[in-house]
Amino acid sequence: MTMWTKPVGIVGTGSFLPDNIVTNADLEKIVDTSDQWIRERTGIEERRIAPEGMNASDMATEAAKRALEAANLTAEDIDCIIVATLTGDMSIPSTACLVQANLGAKRAAAYDLGAACSGFVYGLITAGSYVNSNIFKNVLVIGVEVLSRVINWQDRSTCVLFGDGASAAIVSTVAEGYGMLGMDMGADGTGGMSLCIPSSGTAMVPNDQRVEEGLTYIHMDGAEVYKFAVKTMGRTVLTALDHAGLELSDLDCFIPHQANTRIIDSAAHRLKLPSDKVFVNLPKYGNTSAASVGIALDEALRSGFIKRDDIVAFAGFGAGLTWAGLVMKWY
Ligand code: UT7
Repeated sequence: MTMWTKPVGIVGTGSFLPDNIVTNADLEKIVDTSDQWIRERTGIEERRIAPEGMNASDMATEAAKRALEAANLTAEDIDCIIVATLTGDMSIPSTACLVQANLGAKRAAAYDLGAACSGFVYGLITAGSYVNSNIFKNVLVIGVEVLSRVINWQDRSTCVLFGDGASAAIVSTVAEGYGMLGMDMGADGTGGMSLCIPSSGTAMVPNDQRVEEGLTYIHMDGAEVYKFAVKTMGRTVLTALDHAGLELSDLDCFIPHQANTRIIDSAAHRLKLPSDKVFVNLPKYGNTSAASVGIALDEALRSGFIKRDDIVAFAGFGAGLTWAGLVMKWY
């Protein structure tokens, strides 16, 4: 039933977080919020913020170098670079092309992918399809965000939630019997305006007045997105498991998009997973959108949370509205 006809998986991962930590106590000084509210409603304790001059392409390049090292590959081995982001350096050139130049990945095609917080999982599935169909051998998937630059730091309903960071994974052929087993990708554009940056493209080109009105920042109907997330995150894993011909009881661990511990707990409950099978690093980094699943994956691998032969589920949801699920056997 699975769409993959050969074993395609992840052969190396990397991540990069800026050093600068902003705690909930720091935010108490700039907006009417409290450490207690943020912890209880979201699970977040602190986030990383990129310093001025550090751009998405810089963080993406660093994460990519670490993934190349882990995979024991060089930049010239990469055939394609997909950068999932909503906060790229600029609209053209793509951030993927900037990363290609930084790495010296001369043979690689390069483009950006716009699926917000689902972007990393969308990217893994897309990369897996390329490798499976022999279009490319090694695909570098990157998730990166500098959300701190599109947040209204006066709006307590959004500014406490997000952080900056980057992650990377190299998708390639793996040993027989391992790799991607099942997937699910979807979107519901009718809910798109519940999470948007109104003045960020050609429909409403940014100008002084729009900047003044805060239209160049993230606007979110938190309750709507919350309902969507709770409905979607468990379901997308169940669909991916079904696609893989596996049962819930086959799952060894879960790497969810890190947006809110209440959303993660609800998905884990639906998947009948105890908390020790769910990887959570949200308290340290906040919601890093497209980077979040990849950062969690990199930390889960490096800490030994994911082991050989584990059946691992990934899930993302976010603006669009979009969602994606992926089930893999780790080798
Ligand atoms: O990657 C996808 C991105 N987005 C998400 O995943 C977001 C999904 N949504 C959520 O995680 C939650 O809806 C939030 C964390 C954003 C909000 O939590 P909530 O439990 O839905 O709170 P709420 O929006 O219903 O607000 C409850 C109260 C309100 O006050 P009143 O009207 O009850 O007096 C808010 O004004 O909390 C207030 N509030 C805050 N108070 C202190 C909102 N933000 C804050 C804040 N500090 N930062």
